[in-house]
Amino acid sequence: MTPERPERPERPDGTSASPAGVPRHVACVMDGNGRWAARRSLPRTSGHRAAESTVIDVIEAARTAGVEWLSLYAFSTENWRRPSGEVDFLMGLVRRVVRKHAPLLHARGIRCRFLGVTDPRIPAPLARDFADLMTLTGANRGLTLTVAFDHGGRGDIVEAARSLIRSGVPADAVDERRFAAHLPFPDTPDVDLVIRTSGEQRISNFMLWQVAYAEWIFPQVLWPDFRAPHFLECLGAYRQRDRRFGAVAPYTNGEPHP
Ligand code: IPE
Ligand code: IPE
Ligand code: MG
Repeated sequence: MTPERPERPERPDGTSASPAGVPRHVACVMDGNGRWAARRSLPRTSGHRAAESTVIDVIEAARTAGVEWLSLYAFSTENWRRPSGEVDFLMGLVRRVVRKHAPLLHARGIRCRFLGVTDPRIPAPLARDFADLMTLTGANRGLTLTVAFDHGGRGDIVEAARSLIRSGVPADAVDERRFAAHLPFPDTPDVDLVIRTSGEQRISNFMLWQVAYAEWIFPQVLWPDFRAPHFLECLGAYRQRDRRFGAVAPYTNGEPHP
């Protein structure tokens, strides 16, 4: 007798977990650029420059693997604490990368979004390029790429609370679904898998609401050395994880336990 396949558990956001073991939403904390440069006796900025090819590789790997949502943490609200030279470099680099790759991203049917981008210190031309890319790719139906730039998870939650209060919803009517509707890009599904490179094991204020039930993988490899095979390895490891969402069903991503 074939064992009965356990019910696919429902994620806290009410959508079902990914089919065939492919995470629907992967989020990456792109960490380790500075250490990559330091190991080569190069300035930290060289590490950021070297990160560009990883970004392109990972977007393509995610898209071809069938991941529907990819979120990349590029600059946190806390990263403003870095030396101004490094911050300025990052602003310039991100602008060059966005402008250079916009046609390719659009041609691949990728819908691009920027999560954050509220600080007045963000150069106006960069904010305009972000807005232009969102408009250009807004109707695309391929992978949704969310670049978290000037992002902080706590800040998003506070903003959502403000927006909720302004909307006049009575306190007793507030539930998780209504609250989440006030977060930026409320159609974003919960994160299934977070990959943080460089061996650091912390959340650093990244998409706090959306990662509530994510699986986590912490490859040792530094972000500039992370490539498509590493990404696919992470998807393989994810497939072996049990996602229980608080329940007890013996469930492994993709396949039930033998
Ligand atoms: C991540 O690499 C990139 C950004 C935060 C912008 P880091 O710059 O944090 O690299 P490490 O952690 O110093 O190696
Ligand atoms: C988190 O990395 C932010 C990004 C990857 C953009 P950091 O390197 O800034 O995080 P901490 O400060 O080490 O926690
Ligand atoms: Mg770091």
